[in-house]
Amino acid sequence: MTLRPHQYESCIQIDEAIFLLNSGQPVAIPTETVYGLASKIDSAYGLEQIFKIKARPFFDPLIVHVSSIDQAKSLSLNWNCIADSLSSHFWPGPLTLVLEKSNKVNDLITSGLTSVGIRMPNHPIALKLISACGPLAAPSANKYGRTSPTRATHILEEYQGCIPVVDGGPCEIGIESTIIKVHSDREISILRPGMISQMQVELALSRAGITCSWINSKKEISPGSMKHHYMPSIPLIITLKQKTDHDIIMNYLSEVAHLPNQVEGVTIHKPQNINKIYRLLLPDTPQMAARELYALLRHTPKDADLIVIHWSHSPSDQAWSSIWDRLKRAATLIL
Ligand code: TXA
Ligand code: MG
Repeated sequence: MTLRPHQYESCIQIDEAIFLLNSGQPVAIPTETVYGLASKIDSAYGLEQIFKIKARPFFDPLIVHVSSIDQAKSLSLNWNCIADSLSSHFWPGPLTLVLEKSNKVNDLITSGLTSVGIRMPNHPIALKLISACGPLAAPSANKYGRTSPTRATHILEEYQGCIPVVDGGPCEIGIESTIIKVHSDREISILRPGMISQMQVELALSRAGITCSWINSKKEISPGSMKHHYMPSIPLIITLKQKTDHDIIMNYLSEVAHLPNQVEGVTIHKPQNINKIYRLLLPDTPQMAARELYALLRHTPKDADLIVIHWSHSPSDQAWSSIWDRLKRAATLIL
């Protein structure tokens, strides 16, 4: 696939997406969480293109999207009562289950791991594409380390029309799925927080009569769980105390000098000339904040040099924890 700017200046229709996917090409598709860059799981070419287009390192595995529980079962070896209970409770929806992979899943998808992340997205277009083409491997469609797209236009802009995109409207959830690893029928861990909370998972399992324990998630992180991720194009600064613009600029200039140019392959932009600060107010509820967060981080005024978000929620506020997880990785500095 030669990437030609402006080849796809507008979105493509579902039929064209099915044709492209079935011929082994990658296509950006909507889900309820964020847009994904999808390829059929048996197209080595399409899978390689995903890593190339996103500039994603090959050690960071992809999630496989299914449209039925049977598909999920065929991709995994240790489908058990926990997988049964969580999938029937939360799918289609923003929950990814990491299970032992079957030989239907190749090493390119899992980066050589023996496990695979599987999810059934709750979006009619994604489900239609999977039903027509089979399981689709898809990471979020942003360039590596950057903010995930939650609108089709985000992708058209980010890649200057180089890649085909199906428009499914603004994403309902707005942040990436919760990832749960199923270790056995007694042990699970949370690899990435999301809108489905640990408490909701516990509740669903206990209602199904399943008792299991959580393995310490700090030791169990995803290969793609980077310190810096979701970074907008201009630096994001989070303040934990109210500060004047002048103080923020002074603090930024003195601290940014000590930051490296790159962290885990993600470039840290460090402009030195700061004239204008854009104060971004998050919506009041965690649901609305999640839905709007990435669009707000992308749509900053053209003349702004820094985005500043003041964080006033308690660190122990569970309802805001997945948003805090994204913000602290998106931030260049927390002041
Ligand atoms: O909501 C979502 O999950 C979106 C939509 C498109 O479905 N996808 C998404 O994919 O966020 P991505 O690639 O941006 O993030 C997936 C994360 C990565 O951090 C990756 O390392 C981790 O999942 N992951 C994938 N397979 C894994 C595995 N077998 N074991 C541990 N972590 C895994
Ligand atoms: Mg991502």
